[in-house]
Amino acid sequence: MKYALFAAAAAAFLRLVGAQTYQRLGACPGFGCLFPPDQADFLAGQYFDIRLEVHQPVNGSEATDLPLDEDFTFTVAKAGSAAVSGAEFFGIEEPELETWDFNWYEDLFAEDDDTPTLVNVASKAYRRVALYEPGEYVATLSYNNGSKTIANWLVRDMETTRKAKNVILFIGDGMTTNMITAARLIAHKQVNGKYMTKMMMDKFPVLGHQMTHSIDSFITDSANSATTLYSGHKTTVNALGVYADSSPDEFDDPKVETIAEIFKRIWGGAVGIISTAYIADATPAALTAHTRDRYQSGAIVDSFLHGNVNYTWSPWDGADVLFGGGAEYFFNSSLGGESYNDLDYYALFEEAGYSVVYDNSALETTPNDTKTLGIFTVDNMSKWLDRNVYTDNLLDQENAPDGSGGDAVDQPGLREMTTKAIDILSTLSPDEGFFLMVEAASIDKMMHALDYDRALGELLELDDSVKSAVDKLTALGSLEETLILVTADHGHGFDVMGSVDTMYLNRAATDRQKRNAIGTYKESGQSQYAISGNLTYGPGHHFPSAWDPRYTLFDGVGAFPDFRADYQVNKDGPREPATPLEDEEGEPIDEDDNYANPEDSPNGYLVNGTLPVRDDQGVHSLTDVPVFAMGPCQELFGGVYSATDVFFGMAECLGLAQTTAPDC
Ligand SMILES: *[C@@H]1O[C@H](CO)[C@@H](O)[C@H](O)[C@H]1NC(C)=O
Ligand SMILES: *[C@@H]1O[C@H](CO)[C@@H](O)[C@H](O)[C@H]1NC(C)=O
Ligand SMILES: *[C@@H]1O[C@H](CO)[C@@H](O)[C@H](O)[C@H]1NC(C)=O
Ligand SMILES: *[C@@H]1O[C@H](CO)[C@@H](O)[C@H](O)[C@H]1NC(C)=O
Ligand SMILES: *[C@@H]1O[C@H](CO)[C@@H](O)[C@H](O)[C@H]1NC(C)=O
Ligand SMILES: *[C@@H]1O[C@H](CO)[C@@H](O)[C@H](O)[C@H]1NC(C)=O
Ligand SMILES: *[C@@H]1O[C@H](CO)[C@@H](O)[C@H](O)[C@H]1NC(C)=O
Ligand SMILES: *[C@@H]1O[C@H](CO)[C@@H](O)[C@H](O)[C@H]1NC(C)=O
Repeated sequence: MKYALFAAAAAAFLRLVGAQTYQRLGACPGFGCLFPPDQADFLAGQYFDIRLEVHQPVNGSEATDLPLDEDFTFTVAKAGSAAVSGAEFFGIEEPELETWDFNWYEDLFAEDDDTPTLVNVASKAYRRVALYEPGEYVATLSYNNGSKTIANWLVRDMETTRKAKNVILFIGDGMTTNMITAARLIAHKQVNGKYMTKMMMDKFPVLGHQMTHSIDSFITDSANSATTLYSGHKTTVNALGVYADSSPDEFDDPKVETIAEIFKRIWGGAVGIISTAYIADATPAALTAHTRDRYQSGAIVDSFLHGNVNYTWSPWDGADVLFGGGAEYFFNSSLGGESYNDLDYYALFEEAGYSVVYDNSALETTPNDTKTLGIFTVDNMSKWLDRNVYTDNLLDQENAPDGSGGDAVDQPGLREMTTKAIDILSTLSPDEGFFLMVEAASIDKMMHALDYDRALGELLELDDSVKSAVDKLTALGSLEETLILVTADHGHGFDVMGSVDTMYLNRAATDRQKRNAIGTYKESGQSQYAISGNLTYGPGHHFPSAWDPRYTLFDGVGAFPDFRADYQVNKDGPREPATPLEDEEGEPIDEDDNYANPEDSPNGYLVNGTLPVRDDQGVHSLTDVPVFAMGPCQELFGGVYSATDVFFGMAECLGLAQTTAPDC
């Protein structure tokens, strides 16, 4: 009997697909759920939706035979005042009752046995409300004859005078201090341990650390971390600009207003969004999208232009600058695209008055006085290393943004996109200023792929873009009135532990002998990534001149799939460290069972993975990430704080708090 149980469990483990810790609904403390939940902080006047849910589990370990409570009540009280019904408090009509049910797995065993728990739900949503007076509030959901879910809310008391005309928020996706240190090592010259030059971000006067935890798990993804940075509200993995509810519709979750929306609503300033990812990816998307599912890419592209269409929400007249990849969500299915409702979004942006550009040459010459859409590739843009060093990798990609199947060989870099965006935004909004988000997306993507050279190239390009932004703002006379932040949304467990003699590694016969190629401490030596000390591609632009020296970095991440380690640059394009085994026809045998990719790093030695075998990439990690700040309000960004504080700091600097309701 014992053996039979063990065998069943062992067999079951082979088909795991889910996570380790399952929740009925994140941030819901009992059977009564209230969003925004306990501990939520608000900007005065920030729009948000409230979602109440009462759960009645029909079976599973929490099963009750109580009826579903459809008569729950909701009150709100400002500290020191009496509680009144939510509808009365916000001066809106009592919303309609909604009901639905959903399934969830209580743990891995339930998932293996396919025994989901069924939950009935009664719910209400209060749309587009706001709290104006700073101070503490208590929101209470009362259900099941006396049970309560209480949320303590805080409207932050902050300076309402605007101090910055512009804010530029650079996000190195997945970028940690360790990566910045490694990038500095390969691209900046040092003599006897002293750097002759530093990274641009190193020169920023204020440094803080933000804690990236999501609301219901301690490792975040880029969707909920971006939501936090832009709205001051932490949420659930995969959620963009909403708290995740349990309803069937991914678009009706309770929304929180983002800094882009508030900035346009209050000041009418210009908003720019730049990413080297496909533009519907999480970090750019979270500025305008409101859905708990970050993979609604077509609808996300629509939100850049139209904002949130289905519920009364913050007014939105379109992002003023939108640069990145992801052309497949702009052209329709006749060209193989996946655009929203099969519409031609290039045409829709043009009809809305945008200039539309598809390559770097057109970007350079396009007018500064027009809203501009620049989509330069299908899918994610090419990496700095491929755009600048191994340029043959731009060929045969069939990623031209017009959907023609050609190659996108004339892609701008992050620097070109950033400086052009500043020209356009400052021309379009000479008085009201601008908010610009610039994402170096592929630091994260290449860290996932264990392709550290590409990740560090992206990081150096980010730093170069920061420098060029500072130069551009200086030339425009706007540096002093612009708050510049350089931060990340989460980390990866990366570091450098020494160096590797790749010649020795490549010639060594066995895996155990290959490991002797690693030099630690004294044998790590000096960085070899420069040809005769030549580290620059032009004044002030710091990149290595040699990406394949004999002595490379002994670097790696803390959690990985099976892979072979050779510590050498991947000259043929981004790395694929792990793949499923293939059958005789070359088809994957099991997509959820990954092995070291036989075509990757054939001279390297085998390192067995630490992650579940379904993972073919590395994963995010817990580490706090740095925040470099320069400009008005820079002092708000020193110290160690929650990721939410990045939003509140930017909002305070832009004078976005509204402490009195517009019509009273
Ligand atoms: C709950 O009920 C559903 C529907 O009858 C069933 O499919 C599921 O396996 C049950 N789950 C548990 C945990 O008993
Ligand atoms: C609440 O109390 C009423 C009356 O005692 C009872 O009929 C009902 O089942 C109770 N509901 C819940 C959800 O406990
Ligand atoms: C908005 O509503 C329309 C009409 O009901 C629906 O077709 C569309 O999917 C909705 N879009 C979103 C983003 O919810
Ligand atoms: C797709 O877009 C092209 C180019 O705008 C247009 O000619 C075509 O009619 C569209 N097809 C559909 C199915 O909407
Ligand atoms: C855009 O503005 C910059 C100044 O920042 C100028 O050098 C450039 O020529 C302008 N481009 C166009 C097309 O007007
Ligand atoms: C583009 O980026 C997304 C998000 O990181 C990733 O899932 C996808 O695989 C990337 N596309 C390619 C072709 O690598
Ligand atoms: C420095 O390296 C770059 C890139 O490899 C090269 O174009 C340039 O000519 C080099 N300069 C010197 C002085 O070697
Ligand atoms: C180690 O990795 C190799 C290559 O992916 C794989 O064949 C082997 O099963 C792994 N060993 C363990 C213990 O996972």
